[in-house]
Amino acid sequence: MSSDSTVRVEHPVRTQASHLAQVFAQYPIEVVHGEGVWLHARDGRKLLDFYGGHAVAGLGYGHPRWLAALERQARQMAFQTNALPMAIRERAAARLVKFAGLGLDTVFWINSGAEANENALKLAFKITGRRKAVALEQGWHGRTAAAGAVTWGAADKWYGFPRAPFEVCFTPRDDPAAAERNIDSDTAAVIVEPIQGMGGAYDVGKPLLEVLRRRCDQVGAMLIFDEVQCGMGRTGAPFGANYYGVTPDVITAAKALGNGFPVSALLLSSRVAGQLKREDMGTTFGGGPMACAVAEAVIEAIESESLLANVRQVSTYIRSHCLIGPVTGVQGAGFLLGLKTSRPAKEVQAALLEKNILTGTSGDPKVLRLLPAYILNESHVDQLRDALARIPA
Ligand SMILES: Cc1ncc(COP(=O)(O)O)c(C=O)c1O
Repeated sequence: MSSDSTVRVEHPVRTQASHLAQVFAQYPIEVVHGEGVWLHARDGRKLLDFYGGHAVAGLGYGHPRWLAALERQARQMAFQTNALPMAIRERAAARLVKFAGLGLDTVFWINSGAEANENALKLAFKITGRRKAVALEQGWHGRTAAAGAVTWGAADKWYGFPRAPFEVCFTPRDDPAAAERNIDSDTAAVIVEPIQGMGGAYDVGKPLLEVLRRRCDQVGAMLIFDEVQCGMGRTGAPFGANYYGVTPDVITAAKALGNGFPVSALLLSSRVAGQLKREDMGTTFGGGPMACAVAEAVIEAIESESLLANVRQVSTYIRSHCLIGPVTGVQGAGFLLGLKTSRPAKEVQAALLEKNILTGTSGDPKVLRLLPAYILNESHVDQLRDALARIPA
C-alpha cells in the first residue's frame, strides 16, 4: 500500500481463456480504480457508483481512515490466532457493541455473511435442542449448508446439498398472522432481514418484526436479524433493529462492517452468550487483527463524519427526486433502496450504465437496487435523476 497520493493502477494482462470459475454474471466494464463514490474503468470511463460492490463499500473507495487502519495494523501485526489475546480485538468488539447500542454485548468475529448466519443458526439449534427454523419468503442468507437452507428459492436454483440440515418453514413476508401460526414450540430459530436485500430492498416493517419478537419470546425460540446487508448504518440507523425499535437475540453483520476487508460478526444477547461453552464456535481468520482494525475504523468514520445523518438526509432526497422516467415508486430504507420500475429493472440498469451510472438489480425483476456509499451527496443524486429522466418509462 502506498502512503503517497499517487494511485498506481495495475493492468492485468488479458488472456483469451479465463482461469476463473464461470459462476458470475458480469457487468460489461472492467474496473481499475475507485475513489469515493467513483469508479474508473479500463476504457477510460468514470462511473458514479450506486451499487457499492454489493453493499460493501459503505465508506466508498480509498477512505483515508480505512487505509490508515489497514496500513498501521499490517505493519504492527497482520495476523494472530484467537488463542492469543489482542487489544485490537477487544477494542473493536467494544466499539461495535457501543455502536449498536442494543444491549447485545457479546461479539463473535468471523469472516463472511454466510458464516455468521451459519453460526447463529447452529447456536439456536444447540441451545434449544429443537428441529425447525422459520425464515421469510424472498429472504437471502448465504450459500453454506444452513444459511442456504433458509434462503428462499435456493433449493430449486443452486443449493446442491441432498437435503437441508434441519426442517425449514418459509412464511410470507407480508403476513404477520401466518408468522404467528408458523412459529411454534418446535422452532429453534427465526431468521429475518429487517429490510430484505435480494428481495428487492423490501421493508418487512415493524408490525411483522414485533410479531416475530413476541412469538419467539412466547415459544422460547431465538430471533436472528440477518443485518449483513441492511446493518452497519445502511438504514441511517446503526442497525435495522434500531431503525424499527425491535431487538433480536442475535444480529449478524458483515459487508459494510469491513468496507471491503472480509469481516463479519455475531452480536449476542446475554441470554445467548450466557449459554456458550468452549468450542461451541471457532475460526482461524475470524477476529484477525486487520479485520478488527478496519471494523474499528469503519465505525470511527461513520460516527465522526456524521454519516448516519447523511444517509438519512440523502435518502429522503432520493425518494423525493428520483420518481421520474421509468421509476414508479421507492421502497426500502436509508441507502438500501429499491426503485420500482415500469419496465424490467435490467433494462433500466443497462440504460443507466450507458450513462455511466452503476446500479444493482434484485430478485424482483421490477426493482432496481441502490446501495451507495454513505458519503453520497445530493449532487450525485441529481446526476441519477437526470439520467433516469432521459430513460423512457
Ligand atoms: C442479507 C444477506 N445475508 C447473507 C449474505 C451472505 O453473505 P456472504 O456473501 O458474505 O456470505 C448476503 C450476501 O449478499 C446477504 O445479502
